[in-house]
Formats: sequence, C-alpha cells, structure tokens
Amino acid sequence: MQSPIQDYLESLHSQIKGLDAGEVASYIPELTKADPNWFGICLVTMDGVAYCVGDADQPFTIQSISKAFVYAIALADMGKDYVSKKVGVEPSGDAFNSISLDPQSGAPFNPMINAGAIATTSMVGGESVEEWRRIETVMASFMGHDLRIDEEVYRSESQTGHRNRAIAWMLKNFGIIEGDPMASVENYFRQCSILVSCRDLAYMAATLANGGVHPATNVRAMPSEHIEHVLSVMATCGMYDYAGSWLYEVGMPAKCGVGGGIIAVLPGRFGIGVFSPRLDEKGNSARGIEVCKRLSKDFGLNIFSPTHDPRMALGRIYTAADAPSRRQPGNDVRAYLKETAHRIKYFCLHGFLAVDGIEFVIRRMQTLAEQASSFILDLHQVDGISESAARLLNQARVGFSEDGIAVVFSRIHNRPAIVTPLSKAVARDDRGFLSFEDNDLAVEWCENRLLDKLERDPDGRGSLVDAALFKGLPDPLLREVEAVSRAHVYAPGEQILESGQQGDGRIFFIESGQVSILVPLKDGAHQRISTLGPGMVFGEMILLGQTTRSASVFADQQVRCLIIEASDLERISDREPRLKITLLENLAKDMANKLRSSTQWIAALA
Ligand code: DON
Repeated sequence: MQSPIQDYLESLHSQIKGLDAGEVASYIPELTKADPNWFGICLVTMDGVAYCVGDADQPFTIQSISKAFVYAIALADMGKDYVSKKVGVEPSGDAFNSISLDPQSGAPFNPMINAGAIATTSMVGGESVEEWRRIETVMASFMGHDLRIDEEVYRSESQTGHRNRAIAWMLKNFGIIEGDPMASVENYFRQCSILVSCRDLAYMAATLANGGVHPATNVRAMPSEHIEHVLSVMATCGMYDYAGSWLYEVGMPAKCGVGGGIIAVLPGRFGIGVFSPRLDEKGNSARGIEVCKRLSKDFGLNIFSPTHDPRMALGRIYTAADAPSRRQPGNDVRAYLKETAHRIKYFCLHGFLAVDGIEFVIRRMQTLAEQASSFILDLHQVDGISESAARLLNQARVGFSEDGIAVVFSRIHNRPAIVTPLSKAVARDDRGFLSFEDNDLAVEWCENRLLDKLERDPDGRGSLVDAALFKGLPDPLLREVEAVSRAHVYAPGEQILESGQQGDGRIFFIESGQVSILVPLKDGAHQRISTLGPGMVFGEMILLGQTTRSASVFADQQVRCLIIEASDLERISDREPRLKITLLENLAKDMANKLRSSTQWIAALA
C-alpha cells in the first residue's frame, strides 16, 4: 500500500501543475534558462522520511532562501545582541530588493530583505574566505550532503548585481558592514547560487523544524536557541510584502527565492519544500504558494491552530491502595497501609510537557493535596519537558514538600530529555528531586514515609509464628520446625540465592532485615519483583517440587534468617502429615492473594 501522504501529494501535484500563472525570473539573466514547467513538492518528517513528487531532484539555485540559514550563522557567530544592533527584525512591507534602512542607524529592517541579508553575510565569522567556508560548511549540514555552486548563475548575478553592490556600499557607509563590503556581497551572490533540489529544501526546512538537527543524518547544523529567532523572522518577514497574507492563509514560517523555491517549517512536525520557477508579481513561486495553502488547509498545519489540549498531559490518577508496593509486609504494616495507602497518589503524565500541561497537572495536585502524603509522577510516557515547565514543576515540588507532601519522579532514568531540564531547574537552595527506576521502588519509599508515623518495634524481629507459611500450625509442631532450623546472618548486598540455581532445598524465614527478590532481564539487568521483611519466607516453592530457583535474592541490609531444609519438613511430615497439609494450604492461600493483588494492580493500570 502506498502511503496516503504520498497519494495526497501526487494528487495535489497533478491538480496544481496546470496552474501556469507567473514568469521565470529574468533580472539575473542566467535564471531565464529555467524550465517554467519544472514543479516539485517534498515533505520531510522529524525522523527524516521524505515524501516527494514531481521534479523533486531537479537542481536550481537557492537564492533568497539562503538568507534564513546565513542569519542563523550570524546569530551563532556574533550573538543575538550584536546582530540585532546591525539588522532589525521588523517586516518592511516592501519588496525584497527595497533599500529599507532605519533612517537613523542605517540598519536594514530585517535579515530577509537583500540589505539585511548582505549585512548578515558580512557578520559571519572570519574574513571573506573563512566567511565563505563557514557558510558552505553549515549549509551542507542543513542539506545533509556537500554542496555545489551554480557558477553560471553566480557569474551572471555578480556581473549584474549593481543594486546589491550599491546597497553594500550604503551599509558600509552606515557602519553596518565593518569589513570589505564587496567581499561580503560576493559571498552573498555565492550563497544565493548554491544548488539545491526541492528535496534538499525540505530537509533544510525539516532541520529547522527539528531544532537544528538534520532528521536523517542526526547532525546538529545549528544550536537550538538560534532556531526560534530564525523561524520568528521567517514568519514575519520571510515572504516580504506578502508575509501578512502568507501567515493568514498558510500560517507557517517560510522563505522564498527567485529561483522558484519555497520552504515552509512546522516546528517539531514537518519540513516542506516546493519548487516551481514561475514567480508571481511579488517574486514568489505562484504554484509554491498554492501548494502550501492547500497543504496547510488539508493537513491542519497552521501554527495558530490549537495543536494539543494541555489537559492531555495528565493521564491516569490512582493510588497506592490500587497499586501497593510489591513488599509483603507483616500484618500490622499491611493493616496500616490498607488504611493510609490511598494518600499516596500516582499521576501518569503524557507527551511533551510544556508550561500549559504542567500548569494543569499542578492545579490537579493542589486539588488533591489535602488527601495526599506523596505524589508519584510517573513519567514513562513523557517524551520530554521544557525548561520553563521543569522550573514550574520543581517549584511546585518544593512548595508541596514545605506542606509535608513529597513529590517524587518515577521512570526517568537515562532519559536526558526529562532529567536534564529537571536537574537544570533545581534551585541553589533546593536539595534536588528524588527519582526511582520504577513505580514499585517509588511507592515503597512513599509507603515507608507513611510507616514512619506507625509505632513499630524498632528491631522488628519476626518469629516463625508470624509467617503466613506456618499459620495455623500447633505450637509443638512449630517448635519442632524451629528446632530443625539454623540461623544465618547475611551482610548488606550479599546474594543469598541466584536465579536458575539447582537442587537447593533451603527455605528461608526472615527474622530481621530486608531482602529484595529480583528476576534477570534479557539485557543482563535485573527487575525487582518484591521486597520481604521480618516474618516473611522465601524459597518455599521447593515444597511444590520446584528445584530450580526462579529468582535471585539479595540482602538489602544485614539480614538474619532461619534456614529450614525441605527434607527436614518432609521427615517431620512423614510423622505429622498435618505439617505438610498446613504448609500446602498456606502456600495455596498465599498464591491466591498474590493473584488477587496482581489482578488489582493490572486493573489499576489498565
Ligand atoms: O539578491 C537577489 O536579488 C537574489 N540573489 C535573491 C533574491 C530573491 O531570491 C528574492 N526572493 N524572492
């Protein structure tokens, strides 16, 4: 099946190719050699996929479209403050070659008209040769391959570019150009003579849409902070004295050139390139304008149309009563958490978090704050967070902690698009944020915060009578089991059992301390599936004949265990079958409980 996007572009191309309004540019003689029927459309996605139709690979000269990219280079080389003193960002409302200079400073209105572009070229780092090398290198990064100049067009423009030379001397006169104006105007002619195709233009536009990174080569062509300045000037000035109508009709930052190219940029979504040398009276590609109007309307590409509902940032809210930690607590702890776990709130966040989405999330947290002891912000479905949103979220986290409510993050490990802005936003006097690899670790930490309020026996030693496995056993039988057990102390971090271990008949009862049960993952990492504390048992599956250990067990801290050999229990059961019956009954109940809580969990997350 051919992609519907490709279908659409082919039908659009065939509908508009009949439009024969406009003339090929002629004031640069070499440009008259262009075939007026050349016509290509190309759309590139943020992961570098190109949908192209028509003459998408026909080379032609980039002309004024180069101005947007050279403006970015000047910003990167000289900085925004310096550049904005020399060239304004106001639409002139005049044609591209109008001498629109500020009457006082002589500064051109904006970098998209020829005067502003020639001034911008002169600000690119280095003397003329370096100046050109720099332009060449950066433009090639935007195109994603080495570039060539159309020497004929260059010569033709250089021989006829008297008006641009006059403009260059005026800029020199006003001190806007500091170096040799003729060297800069030559580099300006060269940049306008760079050969591109419609496909190249779409990739260059997509690189702007992708924050300065080429979506196919993944090479960063320009620091992201300059991109928004380039796009804003393209939006207001890129189409010259048609800029207002363009924004009204199409609604995307764009730039046109007398070679017949147009680029349009939808930030974060698409780059568009159109090529048709037939120009309208304003010097813009007539078919190019029609294509962009239709694309914007049919695909809803106008940047002024609402793209997302900030409330979409917040997905499910549920509590630790729905999804408790995987710890198997003693009865007192279990009872207490049953009463209080609803105070731990999970907030599942989605998509790219910007200020509007985070504002909605924080407001929702505020409405639930009275019944909350902790908020777990689960970010595994979040693609990234803006710096300003991260600042707001950190501020809210600090504010809530002053009210005794903890805000912790879950599932953000190794995700720089989230961790970097959050870390950057941590204020100097702020101890920083807590984050956990998964929700289970996060909710256990929050549960422990709740349990800190519970009066509990500090050394928390468990005794066999507490163990669910031995529940209902008469005292004498329990004494017998205790008698065949032997105590062993494991150091913090020590591995007690290894997943896959064979023929080991030991059953472990935890008298004190805590262990973590982990299962190995394909990538060699481990996933924690449970933590067990005093009064809990592990390794009991041997009683059901399972001789291979299904998980690894590590001591989280110093752990004192009573080890009971299954063979000893077998021996006692031969004499006291009640022991085996009770053990198997309790095992069955325990597995039923685990099944119920897993179903509850899945229901909570579904
Ligand atoms: O300077 C010139 O006149 C040409 N090199 C570029 C003009 C241009 O592309 C205007 N755009 N529509």
